[in-house]
Amino acid sequence: MDADTRLSHLRAQAGRVLRTPLPRLIAADPARAHDLALRVGPVYANFARQYYDREALQALFDAAEAVDARGRLRALFDGERINHTEDRSVLHTALRGSHSDAPVARDAHAQALEARGRMRALVDTLAATDVTDVVSVGIGGSDLGPRLAVDALAAAGHDRVRVHFLSNVDGHAAQRVLARLDPSRSAALLISKTFGTQETLLNGAILRDWLGGTERLFAVSANVERAATAFDIPPERILPMWDWVGGRYSLWSAVGLPIALAIGMDGFEQMLAGAADMDAHVLHTPIERNLAAWHALTAVWNRNALGLTTHAVLAYDERLKLLSNYLQQLVMESLGKSVRADGSPVAVDTVPVWWGGAGTDTQHSFFQALHQGTSIVPADFIGVVRSDAPFADNHRALHANLLAQTEAFANGQASDDPHRAYAGGRPSTTILLDALTPHSFGALLSMYEHSVYLQSVVWGINAFDQFGVELGKQVANRLLPALAGEAEADDPVTRALIQQLR
Ligand code: F6P
Repeated sequence: MDADTRLSHLRAQAGRVLRTPLPRLIAADPARAHDLALRVGPVYANFARQYYDREALQALFDAAEAVDARGRLRALFDGERINHTEDRSVLHTALRGSHSDAPVARDAHAQALEARGRMRALVDTLAATDVTDVVSVGIGGSDLGPRLAVDALAAAGHDRVRVHFLSNVDGHAAQRVLARLDPSRSAALLISKTFGTQETLLNGAILRDWLGGTERLFAVSANVERAATAFDIPPERILPMWDWVGGRYSLWSAVGLPIALAIGMDGFEQMLAGAADMDAHVLHTPIERNLAAWHALTAVWNRNALGLTTHAVLAYDERLKLLSNYLQQLVMESLGKSVRADGSPVAVDTVPVWWGGAGTDTQHSFFQALHQGTSIVPADFIGVVRSDAPFADNHRALHANLLAQTEAFANGQASDDPHRAYAGGRPSTTILLDALTPHSFGALLSMYEHSVYLQSVVWGINAFDQFGVELGKQVANRLLPALAGEAEADDPVTRALIQQLR
């Protein structure tokens, strides 16, 4: 049976499962509250409120088996050239641990360790200066991971250096960041794998001019030469990146320098260790007990068996409020594909739209639609057991809300008044971290990365290229002369719009 046929069989499973309302499915199998849960170190995940049963789960495990999911994981860790459209290895796992004897993976790990040594030296050097603020300039994978990590973990470390992020090409973004800072006490870090990204080049130039020269400019890039020539930065102030690390998987490399500046190099290395622990679990654990595989197969079930078109990430912790932004790129840039490895169209739907925010705020914005709207939105609810804030009543209320929402989504509530009825049957996974530390944070992100990869394996698509973002960039570059009044745009609607802009 080929993978597509197997996936369409999942739909038949769904037809069977959906005949029983979710609360009854759960009541009929009380042990599932414990059995459909996994713990890996500080990460606990409970899948009991997903709209499947054990038979459906087995069908999902079989689907993973059919595509040799564990063999494909081994291929990732061993540095096989699984990014076949760009003929590249994908070795972000080598940035945080040594999991493979393959020469290419060992070599990558050695390079990562050397770069880490340079990162530590740079963090120390900056700490010995009078620099109080660092502006990190980058976009997409060169921004979202570090921005999330700094926001989530900054309280865990020293804040001798305050880190600010600048990504958007909109000049208001630069204006806002710089308005609060003193150039004589600031430095800038330009992060770009390619050093060809329009936004980062323009914002980098603004920073260079604002700082009054290149003396306090640093860079991280896979294209050291371009960084050196474009901004006149000496090579010793440019940290390396490599083509075997995808942008959205790069916060574990020197791209994570803003994190090391904000929480200290030791904290950064604890984050890597947390990710490495999760890597070891994912690589060595059979699919039936493998957390990333469960997460991935649940996503496949919701997309292909239940036909759900979006997925929400709801972080019940203020410090993780940027998690959904980060995951949007990780998931949607990786899985937003509609052709398989051989170029043939996929036979089933791939990535749903990922979105989300932080609870409890979002309960007062879009939860109405989640409870009573016509679209069912499966969700990851993420909570943290231990609070680091001194307000115990708030923390208990936060937990009460997290638990209440997942219960209400699943069980609903009958009413004679249709306006006041809740249908229930809304699936969710509850993920709990023991505490929010660099270690647990690293483990959580690693879990999501592997889930994304395993989804791509089931769907037969390449999770590591992103050709879809190129066209818009090319057209934007073509339109610059038209906007400057030096040429006419070809497209009639664009021409009319440019007239308005002028
Ligand atoms: O959005 C497209 C993209 O290529 C992402 O994949 C990448 O993370 C981002 O642009 C930034 O690229 P760079 O690090 O090369 O500036």
